[in-house]
Amino acid sequence: MATDLQSFILQTLDQQGAIENTANLKDGSLDQLAILGVLKSLESKEMISFTTIEKERWILTAEGKDIVDHGSHEARVFAAIPSGDEGIEIASLQSLLGASAKIGQGKAFQNKWISKNGTKLVRLVESIVDSTKSDLVTIESTGSHPKDLILKELKRRKLIDKTKNLSYSVSKGVNFSTVVEKQATDLTVEMLQSGSWKTEKFKEYNFDAAGLPTKGGYLHPLLKVREEFQQIFFEMGFEEMPTSNYVESSFWNFDALFIPQQHPARDSQDTFFIKDPANSLELPEFYKDVKKVHEEGGYGSIGYRYPWSYEESQRMVLRTHTTAVSGHMLNMLSKIDPSKPAKLFSIDRVFRNEAVDATHLAEFHQVEGVIASKDISLGTLISFMDTFFEKMGIKNLQFKPAYNPYTEPSLEIFSWHEGFQKWVEIGNSGLFRPEMLRPLGVDPGVRIIGFGLSLERPTMIKYGIDNIRALVGHKIDLNMVEKNPICRLDKIASSRAFEYTI
Ligand code: PHE
Repeated sequence: MATDLQSFILQTLDQQGAIENTANLKDGSLDQLAILGVLKSLESKEMISFTTIEKERWILTAEGKDIVDHGSHEARVFAAIPSGDEGIEIASLQSLLGASAKIGQGKAFQNKWISKNGTKLVRLVESIVDSTKSDLVTIESTGSHPKDLILKELKRRKLIDKTKNLSYSVSKGVNFSTVVEKQATDLTVEMLQSGSWKTEKFKEYNFDAAGLPTKGGYLHPLLKVREEFQQIFFEMGFEEMPTSNYVESSFWNFDALFIPQQHPARDSQDTFFIKDPANSLELPEFYKDVKKVHEEGGYGSIGYRYPWSYEESQRMVLRTHTTAVSGHMLNMLSKIDPSKPAKLFSIDRVFRNEAVDATHLAEFHQVEGVIASKDISLGTLISFMDTFFEKMGIKNLQFKPAYNPYTEPSLEIFSWHEGFQKWVEIGNSGLFRPEMLRPLGVDPGVRIIGFGLSLERPTMIKYGIDNIRALVGHKIDLNMVEKNPICRLDKIASSRAFEYTI
């Protein structure tokens, strides 16, 4: 359409030399806004130049149009009165014409068309000229009226209104032609090689254009889910642990957590050992307590009864879980106050030397939490888990006894997965053992809950991703990162508030 209009305008200019007023083209049937678009584009190529013509125009209101169709109110009143002396009762005129009766009577009296005879109205003249209607007809077709007084009066009667019409006067520009040449928008290698850039017509820069929205700063789905978890923890009064140490000594990753040195998790099949530096600096002094509890036991335990190796404990690893961080924090807090209550969490990367498949990577994120206080029991753990997961929209948990070297009792947490139609494991938890806590310096009266879950699993469920390699690593689709919405876990206002204040 726009190109039709464009060639029509160019042809007309070619034939007539100039267009005086675009409002007169094709009997005024053209859309002036569409014309403006075409003119602007042609002007930018200097093919034409144009000026705007502003014209005030009178148009009819709905009532004005009604009068053109059915006659003025006064003419309707006149027409309703029979000729002769007989006349019509004012009341019956009212029911015959409705609102028009009242408005029309005044004007008909003024025009001396009718008069009153008792309760009746009678005609004074044989015929009338409905000038209101004919004036409106004139205005409708020409947009104005020769007599200003009439315009004023009809405006007062709200039968007409003023509008502004824009149209354009067009003349040829320096580059006028009836064919629009395509202008180059880029300087290309070909133009430079062939030398055609010298004669090429380039499109003018439009420095007023809005420009493309800049790209960048999109959050990865894992970060969005992490933020949701963080919010839940903050809502529940937790503080975040510092997790920047990806590299740990075996001491903090395993020994200090009462994980024996022969434990399969410490095998190079499961753990990445660091080559350089292969060993940590000197272990903290309380290693002696750790060694003792591993070798001989204590705090009601008989220990593992094996010769504990200092060197083995110094071997550096990529941390296999964030419980290493929790160990550091509990040790640090105990130095301030051994019975200090605490609610701590962390969400960060851990590394395991596992075969990579659709649901496993060699590195993933753990969500870890710790609650320390004097009056904690297994019931607190279960109640906390119910509330925590309910806040994420996960209800009806099942708990299964499990084993961790550093917790007793230990519970695996399962939730019913509607899609898979089975119970899936969503976390691991337990009450930390005295064999771990006491060497770290925690007061014997303090009990501590710990739990851990992966961040990837809920993220994959939330974003409907079934292969972890589509979420993390070099194969991910950047559009996926850019387009995925903000994470909103289907949080439920928990009926069972976990009011564990410390
Ligand atoms: N560290 C455990 C894991 O990696 C999670 C856990 C943390 C379990 C704290 C109990 C207590 O799965």
